[in-house]
Amino acid sequence: MVSSNFALGDSKIIPLHYNESVDYYTTFLNSKFNVYSCCLWEGCNTTEEAEIQKADLFAELLELKKADKVFDFGCGFGGTASILTERYHSDITGFELRPHWVEFARKSYKARYECKDLYDTVGPVDKIYSDGMLVHQPREKIYGKCFQLLPPGGIMVHKELYATGNWSEKDCRELNLTFDNTGAYTKMEHDLKILEALGFENTVVERDITNYTLTTNNWLRMMLKHKEKLVELVGWAKLEKDHNMLMAMHKKYTERLFTVLFVKSVKK
Ligand SMILES: C[S@@+](CC[C@H](N)C(=O)[O-])C[C@H]1O[C@@H](n2cnc3c(N)ncnc32)[C@H](O)[C@@H]1O
Repeated sequence: MVSSNFALGDSKIIPLHYNESVDYYTTFLNSKFNVYSCCLWEGCNTTEEAEIQKADLFAELLELKKADKVFDFGCGFGGTASILTERYHSDITGFELRPHWVEFARKSYKARYECKDLYDTVGPVDKIYSDGMLVHQPREKIYGKCFQLLPPGGIMVHKELYATGNWSEKDCRELNLTFDNTGAYTKMEHDLKILEALGFENTVVERDITNYTLTTNNWLRMMLKHKEKLVELVGWAKLEKDHNMLMAMHKKYTERLFTVLFVKSVKK
């Protein structure tokens, strides 16, 4: 692990990083599915299209079928689970630590949602995916949990930002700050070693980091557009902090210090 910190994997501390009202996040996410991670923009004109393109790649890698039982770990506001339920008719449950987000997901979207720590989930389950959640977890622990839940031949796909060859410890430390030190970035090789040792066969699919700059661009634009409302919701200091953090992330992505990877792992 290139950088770590005190709150990594601590399910009591992680929610504090996502502690504002649903209204705050959905105002700057400003899209149908309120996906709070990098979307895929190739040929897309709207955020909704980019959210769907990413969900479709998850489906393809997961070899998603009707009635597959699937867990979405760290489902956030639940949008991706909803897209996949609607388009592929799989039996998807999203797990999320933030009770208000789960309440919102249940009211707004189509999958099943539970306010539950992913480490408390019980199988059997055919497939597992996550998006932007790995950063919060000690990798041995999360992959070990998935291994225990999946049957032989079971598939999981995790999407996360990984440090490229150009990273430095300082870049990772600074990016970890954007997660209030509840996360830690690593290089792909680090994760692959753990996955292989557990008994997964792995395929890495890369998407260009410009997908993330387009995503953060949108969030930054919406923060400015809805500045008054957001200040009313969280106060000026918090908005300024989040805006500055996003700008810092955006700069690192532009410098290609990180890349977007989907890692598909099949349990042997
Ligand atoms: C960056 S957000 C991404 C949300 C969602 N996957 C998306 O793409 O919109 C990461 C989410 O993981 C959730 N999370 C982190 N650790 C978790 C755990 N142990 N159990 C369940 N959810 C967790 C956080 O609460 C947060 O909502």
